Amino acid sequence: MTEPPASNTFGLFRWSALNPPADPTTSFAGKTVLITGANTGLGFEAALKFARLGASTLILGVRSLQRGETAQAEICKQTGYSEENIKLIALDMGEFSSIEAFVKELSTKTPQLDVVILNAGVAPVEYTLSAEGYEMTLQVNVISTAILAVLLLPLLRGTAVKTGSLPHLVIVGSTSHLNVTPEMLPLKEDDKLLDKVSSKSFFNANHQYAYSKLLVMYVMEGLLPLTRKPDGSPEVIVTTVCPGLCMSDLFRSFPFLTKIIWLVFMYFFSRTAEQGSRTIISGAALGADAHGQFWAHDRFFRYDIPSFNCARMISNYVTPQARSSSHQRPRQRSAKENMGRISRTHAG
Ligand SMILES: NC(=O)c1ccc[n+]([C@@H]2O[C@H](COP(=O)([O-])OP(=O)(O)OC[C@H]3O[C@@H](n4cnc5c(N)ncnc54)[C@H](OP(=O)(O)O)[C@@H]3O)[C@@H](O)[C@H]2O)c1
Repeated sequence: MTEPPASNTFGLFRWSALNPPADPTTSFAGKTVLITGANTGLGFEAALKFARLGASTLILGVRSLQRGETAQAEICKQTGYSEENIKLIALDMGEFSSIEAFVKELSTKTPQLDVVILNAGVAPVEYTLSAEGYEMTLQVNVISTAILAVLLLPLLRGTAVKTGSLPHLVIVGSTSHLNVTPEMLPLKEDDKLLDKVSSKSFFNANHQYAYSKLLVMYVMEGLLPLTRKPDGSPEVIVTTVCPGLCMSDLFRSFPFLTKIIWLVFMYFFSRTAEQGSRTIISGAALGADAHGQFWAHDRFFRYDIPSFNCARMISNYVTPQARSSSHQRPRQRSAKENMGRISRTHAG
């Protein structure tokens, strides 16, 4: 395979369309796999692959149970997978209460969680506020993804202890974050990053998705200290992956004419959702060296995120629920460690 072009523009899109990732063959036998946003697009294709690769249980987090049932039937039809081994749980990433209910129901449905794929995402062209008061791209792609990750850690850690193997927490990010420069996100001393990126005056549909995928890189960084053992080795492998530009329902909110032009563009510059999902699967099969890495195009991909104050960002997304005693210590430690990292970066 040739090397991908350095810049994240048309050259990389065309290269990635011509160079799809390898189709993984790793067995997931005995593994319980959770995928959010699994009813369509990349999440659905990933679910199909996990079923084919022998995962013992698939848990699909879906916004609509009806769409989830359709996906479940299709997975069983295409792979011969047993319907009993697919559990559907309602999950609306637009609402914190739904995330809490999801985690609660999940813990009653499985004592084991080997792989988590935090895939649900949106790319709306209009500014919309979630029920929680955040801009929707930020709400789903970043804040809810972060909270869900934190709330799933106890189950993942418990699985590590029980099975003696390393569970995976995979966040579906995007190389689009590489296009964000610090100049695009000017922050004054008193600015709160999330408030700024969530504000209507700041919203730009061309950039918001990339901002959300940049912020999710900080979410991964914030999760790293929470998922390391005292000796520094990971107890849960946390990795962000990018499937490359793929044909899916992500661009559903484009106006009709834009959609037509986009489809023509995608014909030449995108992968299929099936090809993109290969990166999700291979990302969930990596070893401990994948902890804190960005996996794209079958390699650990360069990423160099600007040094915003992620401590401030993390303290900003802490919900009252997550402030409860069981989460307080790790979060405070994470913020402190991130502050240390930032000062080191500035000093360097
Ligand atoms: N396609 C690409 O080119 C590309 C490239 C890089 C990264 N990604 C990332 O890949 C992931 C999957 O995207 P996709 O391309 O497969 O898009 P998609 O086809 O639109 O699928 C998105 C999934 O997320 C779910 N979702 C959206 N809002 C939700 C909410 N509030 N609560 C729960 N689930 C919600 C959707 O459910 P509904 O069907 O019910 O809305 C759907 O299942 C996203 O994180 C995306 O950013 C995509």
